[in-house]
Amino acid sequence: GQLMTTDIHLTWHTHQVTRAHRETQNGHKGCVIWFTGLSGSGKSTIANTLDHQLYARGIRSTVLDGDNVRHSLNAAPAQLLPIHGEAFAERFGLGFSAIDREENIRRIGAVTQLFAEAGMIALTAFISPYRRDRELVRNALQPSEFIEVFVNTPLAICETRDPKGLYKKARAGELKGFTGIDDPYEAPLAPELTLNADNHTPEMLAETVIIYLQTQGIIA
Ligand code: PPS
Repeated sequence: GQLMTTDIHLTWHTHQVTRAHRETQNGHKGCVIWFTGLSGSGKSTIANTLDHQLYARGIRSTVLDGDNVRHSLNAAPAQLLPIHGEAFAERFGLGFSAIDREENIRRIGAVTQLFAEAGMIALTAFISPYRRDRELVRNALQPSEFIEVFVNTPLAICETRDPKGLYKKARAGELKGFTGIDDPYEAPLAPELTLNADNHTPEMLAETVIIYLQTQGIIA
């Protein structure tokens, strides 16, 4: 683009750092690597392992997951209530109804778009159970920019792991609308990658993603 100008009124352009500039400086392209799968499927573990491998290669990446999003940007009503009151908490706090999950994914999608435009690689680890919600994020990005990774761990295995004891509660009827038990999970129809997390280590699965990024010319 036009970086330099003699027109005093356009000197602002001198300070326009474009995405292309950032990508050249970074030595890789910006993109979104969108992990989707059931609770306990291994999304967060694989995303964090991949993030570490990318970091070791000098790549600018970051992970968005429940730990840093559902407690902050998309806090639950109960988290907002003591600070902002009932009306605010009810209106802006996000739970697990279909519409709340939709808004959760929409906001996360908007944040990942900013990261990609800043030339970074954003990794996300959310169940994102609805196909349409994931497609809306995909369609807001350039075609090659959204890499959907299906963490295809069978429900039976996720349920055996049950790291937070939530499957047990859902089976007992103490937790309603739990994904995979009494709430839907729509598996991707044409994901860029499918990972079988039950018989490979997170390191091996992260390597698979690295190789994909290389073949796509996103990283060297
Ligand atoms: S979503 O569907 O993408 O909006 O969900 P996400 O933001 O990834 O949050 C999933 C984690 O929230 C916990 N949790 C539930 N999951 C599914 N259904 C219900 N009803 C629910 N209630 C709480 C659960 O621990 C998920 O954790 P992960 O990390 O996926 O195992």
